[in-house]
Amino acid sequence: MTRLRPRPGILEIEPYVGGKAEVAGIARAIKLSANECPLGPSPRAIAALQAAAPEAHRYPDGGAERLRRTIGARFDLDPDRIVCGAGSDELIQLLLRAYAGPGDEVLYSAHGFLMYKLSALGVGATPVAAPERALTADVDALLARLSSRTRMVFLANPNNPTGSYLDADELARLHAGLPEDVLLVIDAAYAEYVRRNDYTAGADLVERADNVVMTRTFSKLFGLAALRLGWLYAKPTLVDVLHRLRGPFNVCTPAQVAGIAALEDLEHQERARSHNDCWLPRLGQQLASLGLEVHPSAANFVLVSFDEDGERSAGKASAWLEERGILARPMVAYGLPHCLRLSVGLEDENRAAVQALREFMGGVRLRNGRISAAWR
Ligand SMILES: Cc1ncc(COP(=O)(O)O)c(C=O)c1O
Repeated sequence: MTRLRPRPGILEIEPYVGGKAEVAGIARAIKLSANECPLGPSPRAIAALQAAAPEAHRYPDGGAERLRRTIGARFDLDPDRIVCGAGSDELIQLLLRAYAGPGDEVLYSAHGFLMYKLSALGVGATPVAAPERALTADVDALLARLSSRTRMVFLANPNNPTGSYLDADELARLHAGLPEDVLLVIDAAYAEYVRRNDYTAGADLVERADNVVMTRTFSKLFGLAALRLGWLYAKPTLVDVLHRLRGPFNVCTPAQVAGIAALEDLEHQERARSHNDCWLPRLGQQLASLGLEVHPSAANFVLVSFDEDGERSAGKASAWLEERGILARPMVAYGLPHCLRLSVGLEDENRAAVQALREFMGGVRLRNGRISAAWR
């Protein structure tokens, strides 16, 4: 038997399992399991990738200079306060390595994005989950769980997998309740999809406070999940810390050039956003009309409740969909075993998913009181 022992916490990690992509015997499954951009990458990003291929023997620009400038121009932010990473996952891990360790607590809401807990365990910190109200982060519950050991608070806004979000006032209230030495990480992976007047992705809070960071990704609206590209916005002291900690070439050249091209392709972004504006409510309404409880979502997916067990359980629904080549995301790992998460897909993919679930539910049968007002 090996005498090697990993650091405390690491063996508690249940490795993250991404959305399934393949179904045996089906040439091309309908993948609604990972909240990707159904339209694919911008054609300009594809061209940039192809153009970069012959330069694969060169190291990337370690400072991602041009990419940071382009992000800054696109979102009206100071490029010197931007740090790029191999997906926002890497940035979440870097933040934890920088600001938490054994004996520290890392706080998040009960159905928050799974990587917060896993990454906290990875640095030996103690993850602490605060209960939610109606599948939405509860500011009072989060603040009530602060302790002298709390070092970081993570909030996905909107949250994956619930789709719920905190408005700007609630976000400010959460921040106001934190001691100055506790870092608030606002994970705005789905910010580009949100169409709500009371929403802020968090850059304004970063400007106002020293203990706030906003993370973003190119994996969702920008359709570049395979390239692993994310970025964060923070005050210079935090940026300096992360530059010391990150790998010198943590973002590869293909990701940098494709990211720049994707940012410059406003038309593609608008197409992706309009598609979501059209299909997010339709998908929600159509699933609700089957008698399913569909939780309101501000992002590019919906969380759907099934029965706890029996013939209409989420597990049975997932298997039913998969037999028909449709992949939804089971939510067992999120403590929501009665739910499935379905990403907005292309029109025919959405229609196929609704039709399959219609058959699963045995025709259109409304169950009174189970349809969220948002989808009526
Ligand atoms: C809330 C949230 N944050 C971060 C990520 C990770 O994104 P990335 O692909 O940039 O690592 C995801 C991916 O699903 C997410 O849902």
